[in-house]
Amino acid sequence: MNNGTNFVPGLEGIVAAETRLSHVDGLAGELIIGGFALAELAANATFEETTYLLWHGRLPIAAELTTFQQALAALRPLPTATLTLLHAVAAENAPVMDALRIGAGTLSLGVDEGQLAPAIVARFPTIVAAYWRFLQGQEPLPPRADLNHAANYLYMLTGETPSDARVRGLETYLNTVIDHGLNASTFAARVIIATNSDLVSAITGAVGALKGPLHGGAPGPALDTVFEIGTPAKAETVLRAKLEAGERLMGFGHRVYKVRDPRAEVLSVAAKKMFAADGDMALYELAKAVETTAVSLLAEYKPGRNLQTNVEFYTALLLHGLGLETALFTPTFAVSRAAGWLAHCFEQQQYGRLIRPQSTYIGDAGRTWLPLEAR
Ligand code: COA
Repeated sequence: MNNGTNFVPGLEGIVAAETRLSHVDGLAGELIIGGFALAELAANATFEETTYLLWHGRLPIAAELTTFQQALAALRPLPTATLTLLHAVAAENAPVMDALRIGAGTLSLGVDEGQLAPAIVARFPTIVAAYWRFLQGQEPLPPRADLNHAANYLYMLTGETPSDARVRGLETYLNTVIDHGLNASTFAARVIIATNSDLVSAITGAVGALKGPLHGGAPGPALDTVFEIGTPAKAETVLRAKLEAGERLMGFGHRVYKVRDPRAEVLSVAAKKMFAADGDMALYELAKAVETTAVSLLAEYKPGRNLQTNVEFYTALLLHGLGLETALFTPTFAVSRAAGWLAHCFEQQQYGRLIRPQSTYIGDAGRTWLPLEAR
């Protein structure tokens, strides 16, 4: 029964929100976050500054930033109930994203409603790090209030105070992926909050959406290819064989970006700086060689498709360089995106309109009821 409206599978091309948070131009390869070109913001801001920018529409002055940092730091410790739950989840060896979804649902415990948003941002890293340590058979490390958000996350995961180069590397990554238009998890958060539900429900639903491999769940394979290649001299042989076999090259191509993903550019620069100061420069050079070869082979095998490097390629390299295992890549994405989800929730709350699209009925009509014994 067609009700006269067009069915758009996947809602492609449908505008379902107005936002001041970020703008994605896939043809120009531009990403604006809070009014800044990504490259301008990502490499300069702390994660706390970027979060403040998205939540308040402007950068904080010094006193506001100090207050915000202190508020987040004070909210980092998890309630005992959350830790007990995460310990039980670790006994089942569940994926980290499952633990984050379960832990996220507890974040309303012991927090005033007005503190919920900073508590969610402050506690996402604590959940991921605590769960990660439980998985390794270790006790979680209490958060350190003397470290900033990014540094404390690395400390809680590894037990070591990270170098400035590593903190800057992670901070640049967190700033880069904090928001990206009306992606699936952000849309999920907006749909939930638009029912006048609460922030914890919206964020928990968003974690579920981000977990899927079509969204945030597939950053590992790009790195596997780099390791498989092993040395720049082998890049062409290995990549050509994959393309000849009809395989896709992981870390290349994007639904929206038809030029180099601006996030790949920012993360490539960040990775180079970090690896040069505190890492394995040979791995960075190998990744560069793999990228150059892949882009030229993709132009040869898929002419006119404009297949370029996407965000996953340098995300994998950067996070690996920080010592994070692949299982932590998507949860670390969520550590950042939580702040973006919350900013969208605030926008949606101001807009105040229930999101309620329609469906086209394609089922039967006019059926006659049959009693159970007659079916
Ligand atoms: N390697 C090889 N070929 C690729 C490719 C890749 N990474 N990405 C797309 N193509 C090819 C497709 O095979 C298709 O070729 P065909 O027309 O000869 O069949 C053509 O390019 C268009 O592909 P399509 O599936 O329509 O593009 P899309 O916009 O739906 O896909 C992705 C976007 C990201 C799903 C796709 O580029 C991909 O699978 N990339 C690899 C996985 C990845 O890096 N994911 C992380 C994304 S952030």
